This record gives sequence, structure tokens and C-alpha cells, in this order.
Amino acid sequence: MLKCKQVHEGEVNIMQIAIDGPAGAGKSTLARKIAEKLGILYIDTGAMYRALTWKALNDKVNLKDKKILRELADNTSITLTYDGVLKTYCDGHEVTEVIRSPEVSRWVPVIAADEGVRQVMVSKQQQIARETSVVMDGRDIGLCVLPDADFKFYLTASLEERARRRAKEMVIQGYRVDFEEVKDEIRGRDQSDSQREVGALKVLPDSIIIDTSDLNADEVVDKVLSIIAEKGNAV
Ligand code: DC
Repeated sequence: MLKCKQVHEGEVNIMQIAIDGPAGAGKSTLARKIAEKLGILYIDTGAMYRALTWKALNDKVNLKDKKILRELADNTSITLTYDGVLKTYCDGHEVTEVIRSPEVSRWVPVIAADEGVRQVMVSKQQQIARETSVVMDGRDIGLCVLPDADFKFYLTASLEERARRRAKEMVIQGYRVDFEEVKDEIRGRDQSDSQREVGALKVLPDSIIIDTSDLNADEVVDKVLSIIAEKGNAV
């Protein structure tokens, strides 16, 4: 049995799994598969930052104005749904595909580095995790969003391998791809994700580190599930 958390009135078994790591490490594929196997909710927190970035670009807001960014975060409804496929909605518009565009990828680190935006996002994410078992992936999940998570995984892979995966994804989505540009973009995001002042990506003392460079998606899932089962049997 995994540890119980106090939720509302009674003792309810809520499982919280945090998956952090740099872009392209395979977090979302792992999180989606784990959620399916365990029958729990998957929250792609990167999609939330991306959806807000999409709206900010669409509304042509000044990305340097912290007050406007905070208001934007406060007044934007972002919904993630799953019925066989994951979908992201921003103020009722489906934005699942468009939030993966190179333009959104380019600007999302600016939005994600804003303290006011992060406060709003973290609070929304914590609200969801209070009500139901979740697997969440992002950068600050183990550190800020779910500091008491039952499991904190830190997924990583070499820059070369992460860029290769990202380029492959973009080709499938129909974008023309320059591998060196993709690598530079990921390198830039690594830097901004790990060096910003709030919610920076970090390996935590209780992180379980998994290097996925030489593993396929199913091997990573099997590894993570066996770690979860092992701890479940031990408690
Ligand atoms: O995982 P992703 O590439 O879709 O994330 C998009 C951006 O959002 C990336 O620059 C990191 C940022 N992000 C974040 O700062 N905190 C999170 N919890 C999730 C994503």
C-alpha cells in the first residue's frame, strides 16, 4: 500500500507521481503510459505553460510586463482532457497541436520564468492533485508542485538524443527541421529551465534518476513501474 494522504474529510488513497527533467527526455510519453497503466490522471504541466504562451502571442501582450502576465494567467482557463487522446483547451479553444509550434516553443521559456505566472500555475496543479491521483510531468513538480509526492522521477538523456527525438516529432507534425537549430533551441531551454529564479529544474535529494538515452519508451515504462511496485510491496 502506498502512503495515505489526508484529503477533505476522510483518508483517501491518493497517489502522486512527479516526473521532472529537461526537454526531450521522454517525460510526457512515460507519464501518459504510467497514467494509463495505473488508471490515474495525467497532467502535462508543460502544455499549461504552452497554452498560456499561445494566448499571450495571440493577444500580442507585452511579455516583459509582469502585471499583464499575471492578469493573463489569472484570467485564462486551461483544461486538459483525456479520452484515448490527450487534448489541451485554452479558453475553450482546442490548442493541442498549435502549442507545439516552433513559435510557442521559442517563447514559452519567457512565460515559464515569470514568478506570477508560476504561482497561478502551481496553485492550479496542486488543486487538481488534492482531488485525485495524478502523474504530473514538468520541471518543478517534485520541488514545488508535489513536494510530498510518493515518487519523484528525474528523467534525462543526452542533448544529442533529446534533439533527435524532438526533430523526429517535428517532422511527423509536418515542420521542416534543421537538426542543429533544434539542438540549439533545446540547449537554450535547458539553460533557461535550470537557471531561472523560480521553479528551476533540479535533481532533488529524493529524485530517482533515469537516463533514457539508451532505452526505448517501453523499457522506461517497465523500469518505472517496477520501482513503483517494489515500493508498494515494501510499505
Ligand atoms: O515540457 P515542455 O517542453 O512542453 O515545457 C514547455 C516549457 O514550459 C519549457 O520551457 C519548460 C516549461 N515548464 C516549466 O517551466 N515548468 C513546468 N512544470 C513545465 C514546463
